[in-house]
This record gives sequence, structure tokens and C-alpha cells, in this order.
Amino acid sequence: MTFIQKWPEQGWALLHLFLVTSFSQAEEQGCRLRGDPESPQLVMDGDILLGGLFSFHTSWKERENIYTEKPPPLQCTSLNFREFQLAQTMLFAIEEINNRSELLPGISLGYRIYDSCGSIARSIKGALALVNGNENVSDTSKGCTKPANVQAIMGEASSSPSMAIATVIGPFHIPLISHFATCACLSDKSKYPSFLRTIPSDYYQSRALAQLVKHFGWTWVGAVRSNEDYGNNGMAIFTETAQQLGICVEYSMTFYRTDSSDKIQRLIEVIKGATSRVVVGFLSHMDMEVLIQHLSNYNLTGYQWVGTEAWIFDSVTVSRDKNHILDGAIGLYIPKAHVSGLREFMFDLRPLNSSNTDLFTEFWEGLFSCRFKPSFSAEVQKECTGHENLTGVENIFTDMSHMSIFNNMYKGVYAVAHALHTVLSCNRTCDINMKLDPLMILRHIRNIHFKTKEGDEVYFNENGDPTAKYEIINWQRKENGIVDFVTVGLYDASLPPDKQMNLQNESLVWAQNSKEVPVSVCNERCPPGTRKVLQKGKPVCCYDCIKCAEGEISNSTDSVSCVRCHLESWPNEKRDACIKKEAVFLSYEEIMGVLFTAASLFGTCLTSAVAYIFVTYRNTPLVRANNSELSFLLLFSLTLCFLCSLTFIGQPSDWSCMLRHTSFGITFVLCISCVLGKTIVVLMAFKATLPGRNVMKWFGPVQQRLSVLGFTVVQVIICILWLIISPPFPSKNFKEFKDKIILECSLGSAVGFWAVLGYIGLLATLCFICAFLARKLPDNFNEAKFITFSMLIFCAVWITFIPAYVSSPGKFSVAVEIFAILASTFGLLICIFIPKCYVILMKPEKNTKKSMMGKGA
Ligand SMILES: *[C@@H]1O[C@H](CO)[C@@H](O)[C@H](O)[C@H]1NC(C)=O
Ligand SMILES: *[C@@H]1O[C@H](CO)[C@@H](O)[C@H](O)[C@H]1NC(C)=O
Ligand SMILES: *[C@@H]1O[C@H](CO)[C@@H](O)[C@H](O)[C@H]1NC(C)=O
Ligand SMILES: *[C@@H]1O[C@H](CO)[C@@H](O)[C@H](O)[C@H]1NC(C)=O
Ligand SMILES: *[C@@H]1O[C@H](CO)[C@@H](O)[C@H](O)[C@H]1NC(C)=O
Ligand SMILES: *[C@@H]1O[C@H](CO)[C@@H](O)[C@H](O)[C@H]1NC(C)=O
Ligand SMILES: *[C@@H]1O[C@H](CO)[C@@H](O)[C@H](O)[C@H]1NC(C)=O
Ligand SMILES: *[C@@H]1O[C@H](CO)[C@@H](O)[C@H](O)[C@H]1NC(C)=O
Repeated sequence: MTFIQKWPEQGWALLHLFLVTSFSQAEEQGCRLRGDPESPQLVMDGDILLGGLFSFHTSWKERENIYTEKPPPLQCTSLNFREFQLAQTMLFAIEEINNRSELLPGISLGYRIYDSCGSIARSIKGALALVNGNENVSDTSKGCTKPANVQAIMGEASSSPSMAIATVIGPFHIPLISHFATCACLSDKSKYPSFLRTIPSDYYQSRALAQLVKHFGWTWVGAVRSNEDYGNNGMAIFTETAQQLGICVEYSMTFYRTDSSDKIQRLIEVIKGATSRVVVGFLSHMDMEVLIQHLSNYNLTGYQWVGTEAWIFDSVTVSRDKNHILDGAIGLYIPKAHVSGLREFMFDLRPLNSSNTDLFTEFWEGLFSCRFKPSFSAEVQKECTGHENLTGVENIFTDMSHMSIFNNMYKGVYAVAHALHTVLSCNRTCDINMKLDPLMILRHIRNIHFKTKEGDEVYFNENGDPTAKYEIINWQRKENGIVDFVTVGLYDASLPPDKQMNLQNESLVWAQNSKEVPVSVCNERCPPGTRKVLQKGKPVCCYDCIKCAEGEISNSTDSVSCVRCHLESWPNEKRDACIKKEAVFLSYEEIMGVLFTAASLFGTCLTSAVAYIFVTYRNTPLVRANNSELSFLLLFSLTLCFLCSLTFIGQPSDWSCMLRHTSFGITFVLCISCVLGKTIVVLMAFKATLPGRNVMKWFGPVQQRLSVLGFTVVQVIICILWLIISPPFPSKNFKEFKDKIILECSLGSAVGFWAVLGYIGLLATLCFICAFLARKLPDNFNEAKFITFSMLIFCAVWITFIPAYVSSPGKFSVAVEIFAILASTFGLLICIFIPKCYVILMKPEKNTKKSMMGKGA
């Protein structure tokens, strides 16, 4: 079969030579035909002739050229009934036009139809015979230039022969109208200027197929194509579109119906060895009919087939699919159509018996499975009577399922007739004497726009193609074993891209009668939470899935990248959604918060109890001796200290943040300054016992009050400055934990904070020094010892606080601060007041003036 494939390249030179010689020799002896004239298979005379080229046979007997004598004519084999149907359709359209009075009135159309045998060489020979006529010698008196014999040629179903014919007759502008040649290459009007067709170009079909494949999520497919222009060009466009849509083609194999069994074996091995479950078959029906037999023999089931218009509606393919390999196939087909009257016309076989009795006899014998001259050598067949009746015969010839293809032929003939109608300026009568010019007819056909009697609009775009509309066909095998070609959707290329494909009926059946859409991917799709990573050296459809990095999510399958969650959210466990981060702060609800609150309230109560005792026993010497005014102020400030720890608990707000540190700073300074006052009083009191007793005057109650006030005012000023310049504010800390937000109070100004603390520290140190100096003084009830001790505790707590505070994360730094506040406050309360209360309550005998004085003596 390499012969047929090589023909287009090698053949042109020969043909041109043939044409040139046949014209140039005309000068001497008129135009003489080289080779033998071919007579057409079907003939009817008329005023204007149309040509037809049909492969009534699909194959021919291989012959050996011996190059010493003229090759014998091709011996055609394998009758193709579908082409007879198409020829009948052409005859029907012509007869209908001849019958009509308003279209081409007074003009009869005739025809010349040749059998091309599926051979490109014969197609060209037929086309030339149609154009030149089949006479041996033309009339020498008129010279060699003469008008074309036929005004237009209908036919060639296949792309490759159409290309060949269009190339040969293109320079003469003879219109060639094909009903089934879909190769997108034929749209190139610079190469095929006179080619027109009534079937959409594969440019659209290939795209539609790719979109269909994409629609069902098949990203990893195999491809088998016819090894001719139809398959090669169509598959090239499919592959290109598929690539754009993110579909990968695992293998792309060719097949031709005459391939050797070696090649077929290799094809089957490839399909079997592949991992894709979907096979796209860009195959002509003739190739598919052969291929399916081979696949059936190898039981190659379990593959989902996607097909083109050439075989998806082909009942012969169904009948040869013994192992139900193609069940569930899905593909595109020309929308259904109807031509009324055609069926009745077709069953009248008389018009076919016009010229070539051999062909008609062969056809008749094939149709009725009989023989006119039975040969007894082979199996016995019944004898033909010549009066067989088509009623009740069921074969391809009586199968009307390809009505839409017949309609294409019908529309083509009508397009020519309408063009002739305008060219001959017909109105009631036509201008019979007008000289017909093929170029003019071609121009008119290209600009035609009319409606058939069934309402189909017929027109051609600038490439000579009709608009592309397809039905999506699904093979559904019924219980009785018959395959139904169910229309499951439409594809209209004239609509905007997102509306082109319209799958109406979701009741699809897939390979092996499954209801589940088959899966054909190179690897499993990446679930949400992962992203695709391409594998080196593999097609883009093969990839690994990698879990999203920490803090990132992907929420769709097959995500290319992961996105980082917003600052305030965090991926969930599966990393397919962002969830809000947990907010962390020391709340009243948790145990630590409750404990601190309880401690703080307990401290407050304890302080109140002490105050109550002191008030109750305010007239006892112990209380009086101990500078009761400062004691009460100290108790009051201790209460505030306990309470101020509460401001640290709970969600930080603008107010609580500002209140926190300032209230803490001021109450503590108040507290310490009271203690300091007390210590100074002790120091002074002792000094006062020495000569020059008026020291006491310098530090009397007024000075005490003023000093306490003074110390506190300094802290108040520090706090006011802090609040004015850069107050603390609530803030969110994302750094400490990845999945939690810490709600905390930002200091605003660290200087402010450390100034507040530092001032407290300064006073505490001062206080500690004074108390240390006074600790050994022989007081009757030496407070200084207790104050020293309490200051020791105080300082110890706050010195340990600083490193703990700086290094504690989040809410624990708050806890550390509260703990320090409570601990130091309890320290002061217990050290300074509890011993006195013990004496007041338990040892009243010591609480006498005498006892107090005695000690001092
Ligand atoms: C054409 O007219 C003839 C005679 O009237 C009729 O028998 C025939 O069926 C018509 N053919 C078509 C195709 O209409
Ligand atoms: C054509 O001419 C050749 C020889 O010139 C002759 O053998 C052949 O019979 C002729 N055929 C017809 C149809 O006249
Ligand atoms: C093919 O498969 C069918 C059923 O799946 C089975 O009956 C048949 O035997 C198989 N044929 C071969 C040649 O494996
Ligand atoms: C076909 O036509 C030939 C001659 O015109 C005739 O003898 C023959 O019977 C016809 N065949 C049939 C089947 O009508
Ligand atoms: C064919 O046979 C059917 C009955 O079987 C008959 O009605 C019909 O007229 C026959 N047609 C012809 C053309 O003989
Ligand atoms: C056809 O002819 C009639 C009269 O003979 C005339 O009225 C009509 O306009 C013509 N139509 C066209 C399309 O020329
Ligand atoms: C879908 O197709 C089934 C046959 O497969 C048919 O019975 C049903 O009516 C169709 N539904 C629609 C909405 O076309
Ligand atoms: C996926 O995430 C994007 C952005 O994070 C969001 O806009 C989209 O709605 C999400 N889709 C689904 C299905 O959750």
C-alpha cells in the first residue's frame, strides 16, 4: 500500500506531464488521449452535465507491472454499498431538480459517474475523464481548447483522493464538492481553490474531540489514526489542541487497512502495554472495520474508545466487533437529517443499470446474494432471476442511518443547481446559449445561500466549508445485543467556547457497559492539600503529589501551587482549608486565671481582715506605736496592689493595656513609699532618743504624708508621660507559635515600662537600705527587722521576675508578672502585718504600754 501513500508526491509531476503532452501534441494531430478511454459507470445525458466520483469498490487486486507492456486495467474488489447509496442520492437530487419547474426551468441536468476503486490514481484518471470527455480523438478543426465536459464534480468521500483531484482540477476552476472529505488541509484555498464541501472541516472536529476528552477528565490517552491525510491531519490538530487543554497523548500509532500482521501485532502490543485507558481513534470507517477484527481476535477489551464521524455511526464496524470492544464508545457525528422521498427513490434500482452492465451485475449479485451464472466449483449459491425485490432485504444498502451524509450530497447537488440558476439568469426560462465558465460557476457556488426543502440552510464560508455542528454519539448495547447510537449531546463550533459543548443526556454508558466514567490519567489526581510536581523527563500529565508546606494550603484537586494562609489563619490537619488561629491570652476561665483571681481576692480579703483588726484595736499601744496613719495607707495600697493584678487577666483591650502597667506602677510606688516612710520614721525615732530631739519635728505626720505623696507623684508623672508619648496597646503576636495568635499588650515604649519598674526598684532599694540600717536598733517592737525581711522578699521576687519575664512566651509572661505582683504583695502583707496581728490577737499581755516600754529600757 506504499503505492497509494507515495502517489501524491510522485504523482503530480507525472500528471502535469500528462496534461502538458496531451495539449501540446494537439497542434499536429488534434488532441489524442494517452491510454485507453474510460467509460463512466453511470450515465445520463442532459443539457448540463455533473460529474461524480465514487469508490463503488474499496480495494483492488495487486498486479505486477512488468514494464514491457501496458499495465492492464485495475481489477477492483470489495463492493461498497454505501457509495451506491450516495450515487443514488446524487441521481435523486438531479431528478428532483429536473422535475422542478422553478429551478433551472427548461434545462435538464445529466451526469457522468466514475468508480474510483478507492485508488488515488484512478480517482485522478476519472476526474480527468470527466473534464476532458472520454472520446479517443477530439475534433481537430476546433483545436484543443474546448469547454469542460462537466460543470462540477461531486464526490470523493475520502480526504486523500479529494486532495489529489482538487490539485489536478483546481487550475481549471472546476468545482469539486465533497460530502465526506473532512481533512482540515482541504480548507487551504491557495492549494485547493476549487474545493468545496458540505461536511465540516476536521479543524473543528479535532478540537471538539479534545474538548470531549477533557470534559470527562481523561488527561492520559492513546491515539490510533488512519495512515492517510484524514488521520494524520486530524490527529495533528487533535494533539495540538489536547496539549493546550492539558491532555497528554501517551502513544500515537498509525494503521492502514492493508498493513501487515507484524505491524498490527506491534500496534496491539503498544495498546496493551500502555497505561492509558482511553483510545482516540481518528480512523476512516474502512480502516476501523479492518482494525476492529484484529482487536476482536486479541480480545482487547476494557478500553474506552473515542471516535470520529467516520466510524462512530458505522454499523459495519458494529457487526465486526465480536467481543464488544467498542461498546460505550463516544464520538462525534454529523447532526441527523432527513431527505424526504430519498428512501423510495433509492430502492428503485433501475437508474443504476444505465451504462456498465458488469458493475450492475456485480452489485445485483452482492445485494441479493445470488449469481446470474452460478459456478458449481465454489459453494452453491442461488441463481439470480433479475426480478429480485428489495422489500425485506436487510443489508448496508437498505440501511438509512447515514441520512445526514446523504443530505450532504443532496445539498451539494442543489448548490450547483442554484449556482447554475443564477449564472444562466433563469427567470421562467434560462439563457441556454450562454457560454458556461467554470470560474464563474465556482464563484457563484461559493457565495450561495439557500434553504433546502427540509429547511437546512446551505452556505459556505470563505474556505468553502459549512458551519461545524456535531452530535455527540454514545454506543449503548441493548439487552438484545443491538448497539444503539444514542445522541447524548451537541457540539456547535459557532457558539462561544464555553457553550460549544452541550451534553444533554447524562445517561451515558461506558466501556464494558459500565455506568462509571472511566478514569484515564497518568497518575492519581492530587487531592486538596497537595500540589503537583512534574516528574523530570515525563509528559506534563505525569506528576507527583507533594503535601503543601507548613502554613500553606491548596483547596482544589490537581492544584499547581499551594497558597499561604492569611496571617490570622492556619491550615487544618489536611491542609485543604485555612482555619482561624486560636487566640491565646490569660483568661478568667482557665485554671491559671482562676487561681490568680482567687489569690488576688484572698489577698484583698486578708488585707481587709488585717485592716479590721487594726481598726478594732486602734487604741492598743501596738497599733498606736506603729504609726497608724501610714499603716492604714499601706494596707489600702496593698489592697490596690492585689486588685491591680486582676487587670492583667482577660483579653487585652485598649483600656486594660493602659491600666495594667500604670496602675501596677502607681500602687506599688504608693506601697513602697509607705514602707519607706515607716522605715524613716523608725530611723528618726531612734535618732530622736539621742540629744537634739527635734529631729522628730522634721519628719512629722505632715512630712510623712508629703513624702509619700511626692514619691507617688513622680511615678504618676512617669506614667502620664508614658501614656502620652507611646501608650501600651493590645497587639497580636504571630511569631511565638505558628498555629496560635498571642493576644498581648505591647509596651508601646519599653523605656516607659522599664522606667516604671526602675523607679519601683529604686524606692525598694532605698527602703531596703534604710531598713537594713535600722534593723538592729533597740526598738521595743522593731518593725525594721520585718521591713528588711519583706524588702528582701520583695527584691528577690522582682529580681527573679526580670529574666523570667523576658524569657517567658506569650501568656506566661503575663502570668509571671501577676505572680510577681501577688508574691511581693503577700510578702509585704505577711512580713509587716501578720506578726502584729499575732501579738494583738494571741498575746494581748504583750500589747501593753509597760511591755512596750520595758523592752526599750
Ligand atoms: C419526477 O417526476 C416524475 C414524473 O412526474 C415522477 O415519477 C418522479 O417520482 C419524480 N421524481 C422525483 C425525485 O421527484
Ligand atoms: C481509441 O484508439 C485506439 C487506437 O488509436 C483504439 O485501439 C481504440 O479502440 C479506440 N477506442 C475507441 C473507443 O474508439
Ligand atoms: C475474550 O473474552 C471473552 C469474554 O470476555 C471470552 O469469552 C473469550 O474466550 C475471550 N477470547 C479470547 C481469545 O481470549
Ligand atoms: C439492466 O439493463 C440491461 C440492458 O439494458 C437489461 O438487460 C437487464 O435486465 C437490466 N437488469 C436489471 C436487473 O433490470
Ligand atoms: C416487492 O414485494 C412486495 C411484497 O413482498 C410487493 O408489495 C412489491 O410490489 C414488490 N415490488 C416490486 C418492485 O416488485
Ligand atoms: C422575472 O420576470 C418577470 C416578468 O417576466 C419579472 O416581473 C420579474 O421581476 C423577473 N424576476 C427577476 C428576478 O428578474
Ligand atoms: C436519555 O437517553 C435515554 C436512552 O439512553 C432516553 O431513554 C432518555 O429519554 C434520554 N433523556 C433525555 C432527557 O433526552
Ligand atoms: C479556595 O481558596 C480560594 C482562595 O483561598 C477561595 O477563593 C476559593 O473560594 C476556595 N475554593 C473552595 C472550593 O473552597
